[in-house]
Amino acid sequence: MARAQWNSQVGFIFAAVGSAIGLGNIWRFSYLAYEHGGGAFLIPYFTALLTAGIPLLILEYSIGHERVGSAPLAYRKIGRRWEWLGWWSVIFVMFGIELYYSVIIAWCLNFFTLSFNLAWGNDPNQFFFQEFLRVSDSPGEFGEIRTPILYSLIVIWLANWFIVYRGVQKGIELANKIMMPLLLVLTLILVFWSLQLEGASHGISVYLTPDFSKLTQPEVWIDAYSQIFFTLSLGFGIMIAYASYLPDKTDITRNAMIIAFINSGYSLLTGFGVFAVLGFMAQSEGKEIADVVNESIGLAFVAYPKAISLMPGGNLFGAVFFLCLTVAGLSSAVSIIEAFVSAMIDKFSLNRRLLVTFVSALGFIGGTVFTSQAGLLWLDIIDHFITHYGLILVGILECIVIGWIFHLPTLRRHINAISSFKVGAGWSFLIRLFVPFMLSVILLGDLIDEFRQPYGNYGWTALILIGRDWLLLTLILALAVSSRPWKNKPQQARQSGQRAD
Ligand code: PHE
Repeated sequence: MARAQWNSQVGFIFAAVGSAIGLGNIWRFSYLAYEHGGGAFLIPYFTALLTAGIPLLILEYSIGHERVGSAPLAYRKIGRRWEWLGWWSVIFVMFGIELYYSVIIAWCLNFFTLSFNLAWGNDPNQFFFQEFLRVSDSPGEFGEIRTPILYSLIVIWLANWFIVYRGVQKGIELANKIMMPLLLVLTLILVFWSLQLEGASHGISVYLTPDFSKLTQPEVWIDAYSQIFFTLSLGFGIMIAYASYLPDKTDITRNAMIIAFINSGYSLLTGFGVFAVLGFMAQSEGKEIADVVNESIGLAFVAYPKAISLMPGGNLFGAVFFLCLTVAGLSSAVSIIEAFVSAMIDKFSLNRRLLVTFVSALGFIGGTVFTSQAGLLWLDIIDHFITHYGLILVGILECIVIGWIFHLPTLRRHINAISSFKVGAGWSFLIRLFVPFMLSVILLGDLIDEFRQPYGNYGWTALILIGRDWLLLTLILALAVSSRPWKNKPQQARQSGQRAD
């Protein structure tokens, strides 16, 4: 069976940007920028982009393109004993991140409809946690399934299914060619609207005023590196699969730079919108900005609803805002499914449509645990373990396997034979030493925090049973799948440029 291929380079760029731009760009970036010295945070952020983000993106694109395979196949073609690494990432991403990420998108869809009559009333905090999620006291208390969330989750999974079912060109590529321009237009509307609000300029000045003294704190740098890693969907196996659908002739380094800059540009842009809204809210409530900023979901589901209720025409603003989140989320969600499906097709030569249907059904069923009253707690724990340990470990191993075990000059020759911007010894240094070093520092910092006190004040038992074991279970699954024989005869590596010596 011939390998699926993008219809055009632009289609590939749209799809990769769709994966990269997600919920993380909208709420995580703004929060980090605020927390870590406003404008000054851009220094570690862009340093991380240039020294780790783009080099790793080039690595993932080139390995997917040169080895012509999804993550497990690409690693398998490096060495039989590395196949599990590819499986591990696509499995914990599909049966971990994807499950709760889809539920968050479902909340966004709920809030989209709630916006029209500002259904959260005047206490959005109480509304979100007590009425909407009805969060229970501990992860063991499931309570009931929240049916409004369940219904939106069905819609989200139907959309996920529909897009991936239609295949690479008619599904993912086409959907992103529609969703990305739509997202940009909606975002621009929101940002301009936000800038008109009273107090907006105060918010913007907080966003942009650099506090250089923060740059001496190591956490600021660590957070910048982990944000770059997450925002570019690195370690997910997505970029490897997407690059394997590129034609022989393609400009790897240029594509990587375009995609990385669009992604960061989008984050910077939304930052203006977010801070304008926070400035407006601080002014209308007579508070300081510091008292209204909020991390992650608190920003979207508590702070924003509050601001929306205060502004003229807020219901329309709210609808556009939650539509933006839904679109940004959906285009990332489909990329995860594709990375997994592509790996299964590579190995077992399965029928895409049947497989996608089955995986979507499983994804939906698995996701229902997050629609229960303990959903938020499970989501928080699993997210913590997967993003702090799973992804970072995969990133480190990726650099080691490709940088040290695979012959890196072969990859460099391949990249340089087809790309306009050439990579040299500097890139090899970053991949072999610098990036694994930075990621190890992050991992070590996380481990130290982990043992100091239980994450999020959950009990140890819950953290071990839900967080650690979820990750371990995906590892066992990965080992099991990689021990199965290959049904498909893989395509030869491309190896542009001269042969390895
Ligand atoms: N890049 C995404 C973000 O910033 C991360 C992600 C990718 C999440 C794919 C889910 C799926 O939100």
